[in-house]
Amino acid sequence: MSVGWAILGTGGFPDEKVAPALNLADDCELIAVMSRDAARAKEFAAKHDAQVGYDSVDAVLRDSRVDAVYIANRNHLHAPHAILALQAGKHVFMEKPIALNFADGVEVVKASESSNSKLGVGFELRQHPGRIESKELISAGTIGTIALAQAQFGSGVRGNVHPKPRSGYSDWWVDPESTGGAFAMMALGIHCVDELRFMLGQEVTEIAAITDRQNDSQSLENLATLCLRFSGGTIGTVTCGFRMPGFQNSVFLYGSDGKIIFNEAYPPHTLQGSMEISSQTVNNTTSYERNGLILMQRQIESFNQAIQHGHQPAATARDGLKAIQVIEAMIKSAATGTTVKLEPLDF
Ligand SMILES: NC(=O)c1ccc[n+]([C@@H]2O[C@H](COP(=O)([O-])OP(=O)(O)OC[C@H]3O[C@@H](n4cnc5c(N)ncnc54)[C@H](OP(=O)(O)O)[C@@H]3O)[C@@H](O)[C@H]2O)c1
Repeated sequence: MSVGWAILGTGGFPDEKVAPALNLADDCELIAVMSRDAARAKEFAAKHDAQVGYDSVDAVLRDSRVDAVYIANRNHLHAPHAILALQAGKHVFMEKPIALNFADGVEVVKASESSNSKLGVGFELRQHPGRIESKELISAGTIGTIALAQAQFGSGVRGNVHPKPRSGYSDWWVDPESTGGAFAMMALGIHCVDELRFMLGQEVTEIAAITDRQNDSQSLENLATLCLRFSGGTIGTVTCGFRMPGFQNSVFLYGSDGKIIFNEAYPPHTLQGSMEISSQTVNNTTSYERNGLILMQRQIESFNQAIQHGHQPAATARDGLKAIQVIEAMIKSAATGTTVKLEPLDF
């Protein structure tokens, strides 16, 4: 059975990743796209072979050919559009963050769990073959007890102390009302937190953070460092930011019986770089041929399978909420200079 899809959003990510991946994925039909601007919706629809371009969410949700919506517009629209789509009986796949704050994220979780539709979240590293293999090796005990898990994701432009503020239609990225209370963490570090949770199979329970800007006068950070305590005893670090030209994007997992290292580990939507495993029983290096769409394609196919076979999506609304809980705790920790404990999501 083919799943009829609509994309909400016509920005860089839908244009370069979401629409091309939907067109590559098995069992998908791109029915509709939506922009607040009717002409942009039509232009985007023509470029990506969608059947129709709409300028309102209501019009998308009224279209009976649309089974699932892919929400990839500005962050402040994610939660309200997800709830509307679930109420209209559509399946929802949504980009991170699922909401701008924890309280709104709880509403998305409740709407998802009280509906008969599926809700998945765009953490495409869960489709990465190396991350999947690492999760399996860690779960099997091959690397031993993981003491330290480090993820670092950043970039920068030589000569710029801070990134140039995003302007034009992308200025929402630096508006706390539209992007949420963080910048580097919302854009980059959120993926690091999710993939560490995924590979370790442990929850974040405590955070201490230092950032370059989380204070009363400037709320959005360009560089963040987080120390994380995980439920199984692993200590984690996440570093993310836009102030490091030539940054080495990597992940390191150090266990009592081995280690795993990812080189060229990001951006999360692109398969590339390598994974080195050294342990008592497994010792190898896998290099990945660069592919900018395969993880996105697999993510969509995996969500289609969840719809068709009734199982859980690779990342659920609760995974999305946990990421927001970590970001809120980071903001609090950085602003107050304290360590913040996280409550379990046991509602
Ligand atoms: N998972 C990942 O790896 C990943 C990577 C990047 C981004 N994302 C997520 O994807 C979402 C969208 O990000 P983005 O990078 O696509 O944002 P963006 O490029 O800044 O676009 C934001 C909005 O700007 C409008 N726009 C786009 N092109 C325009 C133009 N030529 N003229 C005027 N307005 C224009 C669109 O509004 P309309 O929709 O109203 O047309 C679009 O939704 C975000 O939530 C982000 O977190 C995820």
